This record gives sequence, C-alpha cells and structure tokens, in this order.
Amino acid sequence: MLQRQHLTPLFTGVRKHAEKQPIQFHIPGHKQGKGMDPAFRDFIGDNALSIDLINIQPLDDLHHPHGIIKEAQDLAAEAFGADHTFFSVQGTSGAIMTMIMAVCGPGDKIIVPRNVHKSIMSAIIFSGATPIFIHPEVDPELGISHGITTEAVEKALKAHPEAKGLLVINPTYFGIAGNLKEIVTIAHSYSIPVLVDEAHGVHIHFHEQLPMSAMQAGADMAATSVHKLGGSMTQSSVLNVKEGLVSAKRVQSIISMLTTTSTSYLLLSSLDTARKRLATEGHELLTEVIKLAESTRARINDIELLSCVGREILGTKATYDLDPTKLIISVKELGMSGYEVETWLREHYHIEVELSDLYNILCLVTIGDTEEKMDILVEALTALASMPTVRLQQRHNQVVVPDIPTLALSPRDAFYAETEVIPFQQSAGRIIAEFIMVYPPGIPIFIPGEIITEENLTYIEKNIKAGLPVQGPEDETFQTLRVIKEHHAIQ
Ligand SMILES: Cc1ncc(COP(=O)(O)O)c(C=O)c1O
Repeated sequence: MLQRQHLTPLFTGVRKHAEKQPIQFHIPGHKQGKGMDPAFRDFIGDNALSIDLINIQPLDDLHHPHGIIKEAQDLAAEAFGADHTFFSVQGTSGAIMTMIMAVCGPGDKIIVPRNVHKSIMSAIIFSGATPIFIHPEVDPELGISHGITTEAVEKALKAHPEAKGLLVINPTYFGIAGNLKEIVTIAHSYSIPVLVDEAHGVHIHFHEQLPMSAMQAGADMAATSVHKLGGSMTQSSVLNVKEGLVSAKRVQSIISMLTTTSTSYLLLSSLDTARKRLATEGHELLTEVIKLAESTRARINDIELLSCVGREILGTKATYDLDPTKLIISVKELGMSGYEVETWLREHYHIEVELSDLYNILCLVTIGDTEEKMDILVEALTALASMPTVRLQQRHNQVVVPDIPTLALSPRDAFYAETEVIPFQQSAGRIIAEFIMVYPPGIPIFIPGEIITEENLTYIEKNIKAGLPVQGPEDETFQTLRVIKEHHAIQ
C-alpha cells in the first residue's frame, strides 16, 4: 500500500488547529465545550469538543473543497479505486439521494429493485423520476430478499433502454451479493450508469475473500456507509464516483444542495482516519474478522434447532457471493420469532443484535469484535435453544413472504395527490399515499402509489403482533391509513 495512505490530512489539520487554541468568535457557540452543560461536556470530553468546529478558512469547506478536505477525499478515492470520493455527513441516505438526483430528472426512468431502502424512494419522489421495479429473488427458506439477477436486469434494460440509471443493492443487508460485474457490463452496453447502494459493503473492497466492491466491478457510483462497518462515526459515509457516464461536477453540486452547511468535523475527521486504517491495515484486520465469523458460524450450526447459513446459499441466479461476516441466524425451528429471540438475548445476556425479523436474527462481526464476545453469543444461543419451554413449543414456523403490491401511480404523484384517511381494515383495494416499512431494515412493505391488498395488510398485522418496528404512516397506531382520495360521480 502506498505510503501516503498512512496520512490523515483532515484529522491532522483539524487537530493542529485545535492545539493552537485559537480565540474563537465563531460558531459553534459552545466554544470547545465551555458554553455547554457540564454533564454533557464532562461525558464527551475536551478532545472531542475541541475539534467540533466549523468550515472556517483554515479548515476547508466540504461544499467547495480545496484544502485538507480535498486532500482527504483524494486519498479516499485512491483507497476505494474511485476517480472521485465525496464525504457525506448525512449518511448513506444522503449519498444515495445524490446518486439518483445526479442522473434523474422529472419523468426519467430509473430501474430499481423493489426491496430498496427508503432513501431511494425518497430520492425518486424528490426527483420526479419514474421507478421501473425489478423484483428481487426471495429466499423461501429464510424469508429474506436477495439481490436482482442478471437476467432480470437484461430484461428490464431491453424493455426500457432509455432509462437514466440502474440501481443495485450490493451486498444486501444480509451480506448476499449478485454478479455485479456482469450486471455492470450489461448496463454499460446500453450506456446506462450503475448506481450501487453499498451501505453494507465498505469493507468488501479491502479483502479478496469478500464480494467484489462496486468500484472493482466498474460501477459508476457507490454510496458506501463507512460508519456501518468501516470504523468511522455514525452518519459518516462516502460517495465514490467513476467518471464517464456521470459527471463528478454535477455530483458535487447535488451533494452540496442536499447537505447541511454546518458540516461536522468530528464526522469528517473520522472518515479520514477510517480510510487510513482500512487502506493500511484493513486486509490484515479483515482476515481475522472472517476467521472469527466463520468459526462462530460453525459453532452456531452445532446448536440444535438453529442454523446459520454459509456458502451453501450460493448458486442461485441472485446469490453469486456472500459476505461471511454477517451471521444470518435462522430461528424458525425454535418456534419463536426473530423478535422474540432478540428480546430474550437482550433480557438474559445484554446482547443487542443488528436486526430481527419474523424468522431470523442478524449479528454482525466486525473489526471491533473479539473471541470473548463470540463465546457469549454462542453460550446465549445454546442456553436459549435448550430451554425446556422452547423444546415444548418447538414447531416449524412457516415462512410467509407477501407479494409485492402493484404500482398504480408514480410515487411522486401519489405523494402529492389529494388524499384522505380511512380505517386500516377498510383500505384493501385503495391506493396508499404513504410509506410503511419495518425498520431496520427499512425496506418498504408499501410505497406511495401502490394498491393495498388484504395479504399485505395481514403481513403488516403479523409484523406488529410479533413486536417488530413497523413504521411510516402518520397514524402510528395503524388504526388508519392515508390513501388517494376517490372522486365519485355526483348522483
Ligand atoms: C440497504 C441500505 N441502504 C441505505 C441505508 C442508509 O444508510 P444510512 O443509515 O447511512 O443513511 C441503509 C441503512 O440501514 C440500508 O440498510
């Protein structure tokens, strides 16, 4: 690795500035914490507060980077194999909205899988683009969605060659990757840019035993959560860009339109240092993480009634590769929902999982983990699976995945249409005007414009009954839903 990847121009610059103890007559008004509530100040500490700064001249400006931020972004571009890297202090959601708005305007078509994160649908509403949905492959054993197949991409592009972009989730929340390289080749044969939601894949670029990264596959843009698995602070992400089908200048102006003017130097500095660590030590660290995750996977598979899928999941059209650091633990044989297992682990072992759904829990193994933590997880799962009550109630929990609803109106038209509120139980057949999702993972059950079906209402009720965090509608109690108003003929 190049020697300069050891440098951290942004963190070093900000730190040196703070060390000079300048007399500040600018925001933030807490002035290195002195104007803050002492309880919070003492807890956070002087170091962090001394670099909670703002875009004054010596510290560059994320909106027009020419100094230490530009240097840090250039080093990140080199590390990620991009032509340009843009830092995001608004998470991967901000980077995703930028990608979509950089290629789509009102009426433009964008090809997207239906199981996308809500930020993608938000960007589609903001831009006025028309989504062309590809159905993801659904795993009937696990009850989760994978990515999209090359065949489905080929079909969608043939039918909509004028599309302005193709969005791919790679890898999925659960760590499953499609054949991204082939998908990119197909899209590029139509001169259509590939936008990758890489929220769950910052680390994959740094190890050959992990799926291919967006930049390695030749994609045009990738929104990548450094904060999720790469060691930076929550909310900090990057947007990687390869020029050709997209313009870096346009990306810069759009990310700037969507970003606060008060950009956090704590978040920005943490991106700079996370990039350094990934580039210089990432491979070594990830080798250990993969080993830790694989041995834990094997131990979980030795526990009766539990299973943790590995490479045997590969080989379908949408399961081309797998990130082994994600432990998808299927709990359906216990006769408990994933949510019940999540709660049990919290109450009995102080374990917090990444997410649960009706049939699984997801545990992430990262560069912050240790063998001891894995031992506690295995011990807890062993104790759970051998509880007499579990053994008594053991039954095969049948996987039910509802059909994807039909889109009757564009999400933007539905969002801005005249609407009314009606009882949840009477809403089947109507067009919904709001989002409904389980968060995490934040994949919509309904998006504005879709026709409500009985089956989907039952699925929502099942998720609520299981205690899962169903969110979205104005009425949090789910007694009512907002739907498009129907105009009846005057009698
Ligand atoms: C698939 C996917 N894309 C995008 C995002 C958004 O990332 P962020 O929380 O960094 O805005 C998430 C967050 O969970 C996600 O799961």
